[in-house]
Amino acid sequence: MLKLLPSFRIRLSKRCYAAVLAERNKNFAKVMESDVLAFENFLGKEGVLKDDITLNTTDWTGQFKGPGSVVLFPKNTEQVSAILAYCSKNKLAVVPQGGNTGLVGASIPVHDEVVLSLSKINNSFSFDDTMGILKCDAGFILEDLDNKLASLGYMVPFDLGAKGSCQIGGNIATCAGGIRLIRYGSLHAHLLGLTVVLPDEHGTVLHLGSDIRKDNTSLHTPHLFLGSEGQLGVITSVTMTAVPRPKSVQSAMLAVTSFEKCCEVLKLAKSSLSEVLSSFEFLDEATMKCLKTNLDLHSVLGTPSAFCVLVETSGSNEDHDMAKMGAFLDECLSKELILDGVLAGSSADATKMWQLRESAPLAVSRDGYVYKHDVSLPLKNYYELTNVMRERCGDLAKSVVTYGHVGDGNTHLNITSEKHSEALENLLYPFLYEWVVAHGGSISAEHGIGQLKLPYSELGKQPEERLLVKKLKNIFDPNGILNPYKMI
Ligand code: FAD
Ligand code: MLT
Ligand code: ZN
Repeated sequence: MLKLLPSFRIRLSKRCYAAVLAERNKNFAKVMESDVLAFENFLGKEGVLKDDITLNTTDWTGQFKGPGSVVLFPKNTEQVSAILAYCSKNKLAVVPQGGNTGLVGASIPVHDEVVLSLSKINNSFSFDDTMGILKCDAGFILEDLDNKLASLGYMVPFDLGAKGSCQIGGNIATCAGGIRLIRYGSLHAHLLGLTVVLPDEHGTVLHLGSDIRKDNTSLHTPHLFLGSEGQLGVITSVTMTAVPRPKSVQSAMLAVTSFEKCCEVLKLAKSSLSEVLSSFEFLDEATMKCLKTNLDLHSVLGTPSAFCVLVETSGSNEDHDMAKMGAFLDECLSKELILDGVLAGSSADATKMWQLRESAPLAVSRDGYVYKHDVSLPLKNYYELTNVMRERCGDLAKSVVTYGHVGDGNTHLNITSEKHSEALENLLYPFLYEWVVAHGGSISAEHGIGQLKLPYSELGKQPEERLLVKKLKNIFDPNGILNPYKMI
């Protein structure tokens, strides 16, 4: 799995979206020496970082960077409560930060906000292996959590390339999607309860939902925090369901000549692999080229093709699953839906396939300046977007690359250029997002709004809905100190 070490970061762009988007709110106070002393009083000196805070003030893409002021490392919910009560009383703005792997600039300061890192809140872990219910601190790294569950025969019901760095609290705050959503559904299906701290003058601690599977006694308040991007409160503990770890995993990579055929393969996978289908991922030829040129990663398929899909099944009976996968591949070939295919014969083979898919974000980041997109579209328009944009960008783009969770209708269209280009940017926006909404899509499928998409966040939404969201924000965060200049 990709460990997102600082060395993986791409060069910093001189451009700072934040500066373009938002002026500093003068109602917020500036962090003074007396505030730092107060924080040190709550957390000890080791819980307050004042110098060399670049890692916490720069995002993974390198396109977002804010000066920040100080980074705080509370170790428990009580310390988070003390920080938020203090910041609320003193009008200090705060950015909650998990693993800082988000791709829309939501986890870093825009100006001099205090960064509140959850990375030290990662001790408490309990698991009910009869009901499959997990309760843990929000700062656990997803991969560490999954490894803990592995020894108990279970796994986290979602997976993403950033699993070596992202945190479960950050996953809830972004409503992360990833590569298993087609099988296990979104996090809405798994979240049961949360402990959250509100940014009010008491640093109110709320225990929302419950630790049991069914509870219809109230509004489903924990779910308000799914995808809330640190706007409503700070999540310190998560209760959710886990799923039995599959005993048999079959992976295949298929070469396909047209996008229409990719959709036919998906239909067939759903009907013939049905309950064991666990992933259906997509890479186009431009992605393969980028992987080869920038990371020296080569396709596992002998035959070059315009498209490539990665199909995986997860089940409990190898003979049964292999028979299903075999029959599916035979049908794909006999109906001439695929040109070629490789079935992984070992976990090492499967790892090679997944390395291709999961390295795609890194491969494009090495291509130059990247205009990243994460949108949902009806499948009939999924690749049409790539074709439209390829034609529109012409020679201004270096690469027009598409990979994504095609089984969920979620495309990641990445457009690169040697360096940031005003001309290319003007061609892309708002045209691209308006096109997506006009075709019945969503401008953010799984990465959120953050700073990146703030100018377009009203697209496709009713004004009344936006107003309701603002009212909700005001209830949770009356002083507006939590993660300002973003999403809401
Ligand atoms: P951060 O980036 O630190 O924060 C994200 C947002 O959540 C911010 O608004 C922050 O303020 C808020 N937040 C974080 N923790 C808390 C908390 N405890 N309480 C309140 N608010 C909080 N995303 C997908 O959905 N699917 C993918 O397949 C996927 N693949 C990726 C692959 C790579 C290589 C990379 C770099 C990123 C990928 N992402 C993907 C994006 C990212 O990993 C996810 O959005 C992830 O869920 C973010 O978690 P994090 O802990 O890094 O959160
Ligand atoms: C992915 O699916 O690889 C991620 O969401 C990251 C990206 O879009 O680059
Ligand atoms: Zn994705």
